[in-house]
Amino acid sequence: MNHPYPASEIEAGAAKRLNVPDYVKHQGLIDWVASIAALTKPDRVVWADGSQEENDRLCAEMVAAGTLRKLNPEKRPGSYLAWSDPGDVARVEDRTFICSRTREEAGPTNNWTDPDEMRGTLNGLFDGCMRGRTMYVVPFSMGPLGSHIAHVGVELSDSPYVVVNMRIMTRMGRAVYDVLGESGHFVPCVHSVGKPLAPGEKDVAWPCNSTKYIVHYPETREIWSYGSGYGGNALLGKKCFALRIASNMGRQDALSGGIGWLAEHMLILAVTSPEGRKYHVAAAFPSACGKTNFAMLIPPKGFEGWTVRTIGDDIAWIKPHSDGRLYAINPEAGFFGVAPGTSAKTNPNCLASLDRNVIYTNVALTDDGDVWWEGLSEPPAHLLDWQGKDWTPELARANPVNGKPKPAAHPNARFTVAAAQCPSIDPNWDSVDGVPIDAFIFGGRRSTTVPLVTEARSWEEGVYMAATMGSETTAAQAGATGVVRRDPFAMLPFCGYNMAEYFGHWLDLGHRLQVGGAKLPGIFCVNWFRTDENGKFVWPGFGDNMRVLAWMLGRLEGKAQGVEHVFGTSPRYEDLNWNGLDFPRASFERITSIDKEAWSREFQLHAELFQQLSHGLPPALSRVKASFEKRLAA
Ligand code: GTP
Ligand code: SPV
Ligand code: MN
Repeated sequence: MNHPYPASEIEAGAAKRLNVPDYVKHQGLIDWVASIAALTKPDRVVWADGSQEENDRLCAEMVAAGTLRKLNPEKRPGSYLAWSDPGDVARVEDRTFICSRTREEAGPTNNWTDPDEMRGTLNGLFDGCMRGRTMYVVPFSMGPLGSHIAHVGVELSDSPYVVVNMRIMTRMGRAVYDVLGESGHFVPCVHSVGKPLAPGEKDVAWPCNSTKYIVHYPETREIWSYGSGYGGNALLGKKCFALRIASNMGRQDALSGGIGWLAEHMLILAVTSPEGRKYHVAAAFPSACGKTNFAMLIPPKGFEGWTVRTIGDDIAWIKPHSDGRLYAINPEAGFFGVAPGTSAKTNPNCLASLDRNVIYTNVALTDDGDVWWEGLSEPPAHLLDWQGKDWTPELARANPVNGKPKPAAHPNARFTVAAAQCPSIDPNWDSVDGVPIDAFIFGGRRSTTVPLVTEARSWEEGVYMAATMGSETTAAQAGATGVVRRDPFAMLPFCGYNMAEYFGHWLDLGHRLQVGGAKLPGIFCVNWFRTDENGKFVWPGFGDNMRVLAWMLGRLEGKAQGVEHVFGTSPRYEDLNWNGLDFPRASFERITSIDKEAWSREFQLHAELFQQLSHGLPPALSRVKASFEKRLAA
């Protein structure tokens, strides 16, 4: 086993208190659970089986403890609301560590600490950290159970909120042990809210600790998370496993002689034209920049006959198939999506998914036991906000935050819901082979500079555009919002190894597939977020993004026209289908113009990124940069 606590060191008697169910046959797993129990010293160990009864019991216990509120069963059957600690509302990137053997392997964009030193720190923090609590053993599969592309993890957590969320977000429960058998590999994930209870001490509604560590050991493929109960910090199958550890796995596969694969921060959708041609697209946008919305897009008026189906909204595992093409699966089973801004107007498919069996986190509570968030509808006259305080439109205006009425829902408030509840879910969404990818889309949130859509001329130039992408920060990560930073491939917080080598991995994979005679997916860059002089978005976005998607498919088919410029090809006004939308030519100009000066400054930022990543940066990217700059100067 790849854990640091051999069974011989396990406290006498601890193993007996483990309550191992008779269907668990994996001695390595049992020893590991015993070792973590010996370290963290929970009052009891409970092996989650994923059943409805278990879920209902945990929810009832959390209602009694004040962690969850049961919503009005007439309005939201089977649904609950959690309000977090105000200091535990988003991923904590500055507390996230990639503890590879060397600093170089983690690369300059990740926090790194020597793994032995980190183990020492964490052993101190985890020692006794589950006192007074229950440690849950949560087995889960990322990807369909037993599929050749799936990988199993086991999360040990002292948070029942984590258990019920993992049950929605992954294939969680007893059946995972059938896959594991007596010796199957699993990614060990240890999670604690970091708040032990003294005997008789009353728990708080949302236990957490101001000290937080989200730690990955790529060599041993372990995850240790301390101090937070929120989202990507605590649901360890998601960003920690399915992106940071899995990106390492995909790269390691290539290093050890395989062709390699990709773990990406991407939605996956299927789109069918009126003629019945079906395409699959994977799109990477940074956190809170539109993946869930794009994945559930409803074609607008004027696009009758087109359909869009959802396969995933956050993570894609992408592997070369025997036919030489790249196939993608959604390793998750649910959506942990941004609530604010979700409405019957912007995302009807999402809203329809949210009418039952949902865990809401940090949204507002209405007087009749329903939920509300900014953008859902006209604000009700009275709410309890995400901190449980009285909220009225008047109070909100009287207490503005950043010049805007104080929000009732936290800007990073989220819903957890099963993918199967989404009306637009694709019939093949959980196919074990995945779906063949025809195009990759990369997009940031940029109020200026970046045009609506550009098709890359080549795989290399596409990789360059994805690698140098910038985006304004959002509420999905702790810290300031609205600050432009480089977010290569929308993976800055999620790449589990050196970002320069990650670029190389993308280039190499494309090269290997091309040599094999495969037609590579097209690469497109988009920006839905250019604003006018009043700071308003010029592009209507949401369903109207279909107009851009249709143009991309037209390009793949060699039918759509465009104009070539510095970075590739973009549509002219007359190249998009404007049926059903009155969008003036001047507005189109506003969101597609390329400002030479702004782009010279942009290239300066690319240069800074390349300087930061100079160790191991593929020379091809510097070549592309030079050729773009030459074109810009011409
Ligand atoms: P993560 O779950 O954090 O990875 O985010 P995501 O990429 O899935 O983002 P999501 O689709 O939830 O969108 C987040 C925010 O962007 C919401 O407030 C949306 O209303 C807004 N948004 C999404 N699509 C568009 C768009 O096309 N135009 C505009 N202007 N806003 C959008
Ligand atoms: C993101 O921040 O990109 C998310 C939410 O999808 S979390 O699971 O918290 O990472
Ligand atoms: Mn995400």
